[in-house]
Amino acid sequence: MTEIKIFCPATIANLNCGFDVMGLCLDGIGDEMIIRKVAQKGVRITKITGADLPLETEKNVAGVAALALYNDAIYRVSIEHGFEIEIHKKIKAGSGIGSSSASAAGAVFGINELLGKPFTKHELVFFAMKGEVVASGSEHADNVAPCILGGFTLVRGYNPLDVIKIESPSELYAVVLHPHIEVKTSDSRAVLSPTVSLKSAITQWGNLGGLIAGLYTKDYELIGRSLQDVIVEPARKHLIPNFDLVKNEALKNGALGAGISGAGPSIFALCKGETIANTIAKSMSDAYSDTGIACDIYISKVNSDGTKII
Ligand code: HSE
Repeated sequence: MTEIKIFCPATIANLNCGFDVMGLCLDGIGDEMIIRKVAQKGVRITKITGADLPLETEKNVAGVAALALYNDAIYRVSIEHGFEIEIHKKIKAGSGIGSSSASAAGAVFGINELLGKPFTKHELVFFAMKGEVVASGSEHADNVAPCILGGFTLVRGYNPLDVIKIESPSELYAVVLHPHIEVKTSDSRAVLSPTVSLKSAITQWGNLGGLIAGLYTKDYELIGRSLQDVIVEPARKHLIPNFDLVKNEALKNGALGAGISGAGPSIFALCKGETIANTIAKSMSDAYSDTGIACDIYISKVNSDGTKII
């Protein structure tokens, strides 16, 4: 095998109560990448479509992640060749559904496959996270983990990285409204306070525990009660036109919970079943219409596969 084409899915990070630690993998929305084994050693990005991103390996999220893996793989396998990467972006940069993570995840997943899988999927998360620094200035794995592993993931700890894939109920659907405005993750992180009150922390970790318990026990009501964010959403929501209106309409129309997807501007809702998902999608889109900003709506089941060869 010298060349593979892969699908790198979009993701929802944070899920209200799990800032920088929780994430969810989406179905049907994602980038495509081609990874090719070539004679010349090193990693090169040869083509990018769908976005204006740097081709220089060291300046590109996928390139940085790929190099992190390549430089470590040398200690596990003998590498007598290099790799070329083509990136075909479908997820818009600054959309809040893991655009940079998809590129980072796809690069490390693809190279690992062509090397004969010296690393486990969990180990790949570490390398992909290195690419995230280029996009946001900080190492967080809440998008790259679900993108690579699929399903819901929890980053239990960063030092050392400890990622857990979490079971979820089969009828859970995500609805995502992606407004066509860009919010840079670095800007969205800059509005956050570096400290939180003990009261807010207690509320947040209670909800995070509730969300994990609800996912494992398939208790939709508990999942819904736990989808609350008293720390990050209040500080960020002014960056997203009509956020409160869209969220309230989603809740009124049957969403278990709703909030900012990742660093925004996308808004997500979770619900039980496809019929309710369709109703919620319409209500969110209607509530956004008077902004005059175009938007896309996605309806997706939880994607338990993550990044894969197509
Ligand atoms: N957890 C990150 C944030 C996700 O909300 O800033 C964006 O990459």
